[in-house]
Amino acid sequence: MTLKEKYRGYFDIGAAVNTGTIVSHNELITREFSSITCENEMKYNRVTSDGKTYNFADADAIAEYAKKNGLKVRMHTLLWHNQVPDAIFEGADKDALLATLKAHTQKIGERYGKLIYVADVANEVVEDKEDYLYRRSKWYDILGDTLLDEAFAYAAQYMPGVKLCYNDYNEMDPVKSKKIYELVKGLLERGAPVHTLGLQAHWSISTSLDDIKRALELYSKLGVSLQVTEMDISVYPTREEPAVEKPSADMIKKQVQLYRDAFALFREYKDIMDSVTTWGVADDMTWLSRMRGVVRKNWPLLFDDDHQPKEAYHAIMDF
Ligand code: GLA
Repeated sequence: MTLKEKYRGYFDIGAAVNTGTIVSHNELITREFSSITCENEMKYNRVTSDGKTYNFADADAIAEYAKKNGLKVRMHTLLWHNQVPDAIFEGADKDALLATLKAHTQKIGERYGKLIYVADVANEVVEDKEDYLYRRSKWYDILGDTLLDEAFAYAAQYMPGVKLCYNDYNEMDPVKSKKIYELVKGLLERGAPVHTLGLQAHWSISTSLDDIKRALELYSKLGVSLQVTEMDISVYPTREEPAVEKPSADMIKKQVQLYRDAFALFREYKDIMDSVTTWGVADDMTWLSRMRGVVRKNWPLLFDDDHQPKEAYHAIMDF
């Protein structure tokens, strides 16, 4: 039994991949997963560095891989404050930036619209802690409070039949989850075609199950589907924790427990949960091992450095 077989009837099981891992992790990807996300290759600055000329070579390589192996594809991501060419903002007023976003959405839609089942139309526009709703970014500075309304309208125009997603992190935080809820509710009330809410789930062993429960309950009231889009569970309780040579028994125990509890919850929401994606395939290649320039080996995924199933894997398979 593999992950994707076990969870058939519940939701798709996805992994973030890149042009390297589709070769080095091919066996695991094709055996265990039913959906993939490009870790970087479909991001704005990876398909165009100047906002005008496009190079789809890397994204195409992954698209071809998906087709060849019958994998579903999550498109990640259109409007985001990171990994976006600065050139698109230079001297742009609202109309000009909207025209650029529209043209970009059209490019992506025409190329991958038939392949993808969902698109992250916008990523991380909600501010974490402050009183205000929107993160201050170049997008926000130029487009203002309705920055997502057009983004979703363009995606609906150029990606017919694709589920349109709003995606964010710290999505289980008691303060931020309310803001994400308000953002999506507002969009829906204004008629924006938001079909699904993406929950990144970059968690750690100190993430609270109660917070997760409460946030899922809140989001389920939106009337859109949910997708867990970037799940990993860091073995360190905090970002500042010093690196260890190998995870302690206590770290592993907590990680296994949280994976198990979380998947039990996701199953409870199976009627609205479309897919659960981990951010990476196996522990030998994950962004958490080198986050913001700091080298700190992490073991956040379901497969180990040798691509063997970990305890966390067994914990979500054996119940
Ligand atoms: C965010 C983004 C992802 C990725 C991760 C870190 O969660 O949505 O695309 O960049 O950060 O790797």
